[in-house]
Amino acid sequence: MKVLVSDPLSEQGLTILQQHFTVDVITKLSEEELVEKIPEYDALVIRSGTQVTRKVIEAADKMKIVGRAGVGVDNVDVEAATEKGIIVVNAPEGNMLSAAEHTIAMMMALARNVPQADASLKAKKWERGKFMGVEVNGKTLGVIGLGRIGAEVAKRAQGMNMNILAYDPFVSEERAKEMGVKMMSVQEIAKEADFITVHTPLTKDTRNIIDAEEFGMMKTNARIINCARGGIINEEALAEALNSEKIAGAAIDVFTSEPPFDGPLIDCKNIIVTPHLGASTKEAQINVAVSVAEEVVAVLNGGTAKNA
Ligand code: NAD
Ligand code: MLT
Repeated sequence: MKVLVSDPLSEQGLTILQQHFTVDVITKLSEEELVEKIPEYDALVIRSGTQVTRKVIEAADKMKIVGRAGVGVDNVDVEAATEKGIIVVNAPEGNMLSAAEHTIAMMMALARNVPQADASLKAKKWERGKFMGVEVNGKTLGVIGLGRIGAEVAKRAQGMNMNILAYDPFVSEERAKEMGVKMMSVQEIAKEADFITVHTPLTKDTRNIIDAEEFGMMKTNARIINCARGGIINEEALAEALNSEKIAGAAIDVFTSEPPFDGPLIDCKNIIVTPHLGASTKEAQINVAVSVAEEVVAVLNGGTAKNA
């Protein structure tokens, strides 16, 4: 059987696939090129670069499984795949610690202006007065989406003596209590939090969950972080809130369109940005690659998938 790997995948995942199947690694394929190649493959393994559209799925005559080495399956037309009987699996746990750590890194960099100060000193300026920061100690962090990554972020922030508020309609009061977290509405969090971080999937309910109305409720010292998916925070409303200094800053890893060169965010006041690096650690990339490779082996050998 043949497996197509169409985004870079760590060696450990490739080795597992190669022990069982013929594996072709061909990256940066256009939709047309993928449509042309896909009929010969039994499985497709991707990260976030490949768009598995309905057109690709319709051409995938032998395909049994699409494996996404990561969490979000928003680059796969899951409905089209399901209609065709193709299983879509992800790797839900392999990169969660890396994403949580990146969120904390972004929060701290935002609080202390680390990227701006680094750029200033490298431009041969000594501007100690310009980069006055804030402590996170004793501050309130609002977590929208208290799933795997949100919970890990909350735990780490508690370790820095932050108070945690959260909104997640699928988390019980009892579970929140166990975690030492107070559940509130998005609007209550907008009014009370010093830092807000979003960790939901991008769905019709979470798109623009933070919009102009919520920015209007925030404190002027509020800072917001998105290491989940572009579009959970409305980008135009965020740009307006930053440029009018309605809020104090934002740290953004993900964008509605990537790379975000034509979007409204990267030139805003008081924003720090990274190019979708939440899962970019050696550990996470090994974990997700091994996880999807094992799923592909199981399914192509007639077994079942754990993370369908
Ligand atoms: P998860 O499924 O474990 O948690 C998501 C949480 O969001 C769940 O608890 C769910 O109940 C909650 N949720 C769903 N709808 C909601 C709504 N309307 N309002 C509030 N909460 C809602 O997922 P996860 O692994 O924690 O991933 C979170 C996000 O991070 C995903 O969007 C994922 O794609 C993204 N992610 C990004 C990176 C990166 O590189 N930046 C890395 C990993 C994951
Ligand atoms: C994910 O959903 O797993 C992350 O966005 C990381 C990635 O796309 O590789």
